[in-house]
Amino acid sequence: MPSPRENIFPVFNGILSRAEKEVFLRQRSCVIWLTGLSGAGKTTLANHLEKELFSRGYFTQILDGDNIRSGVNSNLGFSDADRYENIRRIAEISKLFLNCGIITINCFISPTEDIREMARSIIGKDDFIEIYVNAPLSVCERRDVKGLYSKARRGEIKEFTGITAPFETPQHADVEIRTDLLSIDDSVEKILKFVLPYIEFMK
Ligand code: ADX
Repeated sequence: MPSPRENIFPVFNGILSRAEKEVFLRQRSCVIWLTGLSGAGKTTLANHLEKELFSRGYFTQILDGDNIRSGVNSNLGFSDADRYENIRRIAEISKLFLNCGIITINCFISPTEDIREMARSIIGKDDFIEIYVNAPLSVCERRDVKGLYSKARRGEIKEFTGITAPFETPQHADVEIRTDLLSIDDSVEKILKFVLPYIEFMK
């Protein structure tokens, strides 16, 4: 059985370089990866962060679990293998944006160290900023913005992260944000402090 990659010849030379696109956009691109439980505040922080960056002249793209799972990953569920494939595809997509000079803000539970390390290695460690959006499970469950925790407790959703599927505490996060202790503005401020020196355009 021939490998599906046998007759594929990726060509990257001749394409305008990332550096040329970064000069055009006057920014250094990277992937800002928000990991955390459902309801921890990833999407809220990403939206505020994007507005802050945009108002400072940065060009960004948000990738979000619920959106991506309605489109490119609509054939995937929440088994370990599907979550892995979900994140693998997202990391590959993020890499395309990275090479386009765009700052990508990703909001995915990305529940295990293995999954996060896989994303980091696809994207490249120098371009990967990991933000742990941390709110205790009890807080996420109390917020229950989408009503999913109560469904999971009633047994209506299987393999729900934090209830019947694992979430491993990130060991390599660059920044941790306790969204139960910090305001949105202070959280964004803390992320910006880390991210801005990274993405600043060097002439
Ligand atoms: S991940 O684990 O593969 O990284 P992802 O971030 O894409 O997950 O999707 C999580 C979103 O899917 C949650 O915010 C929630 O709205 C929804 N969801 C539906 N079923 C589950 C489940 N079993 N576990 C976690 N999230 C779920």
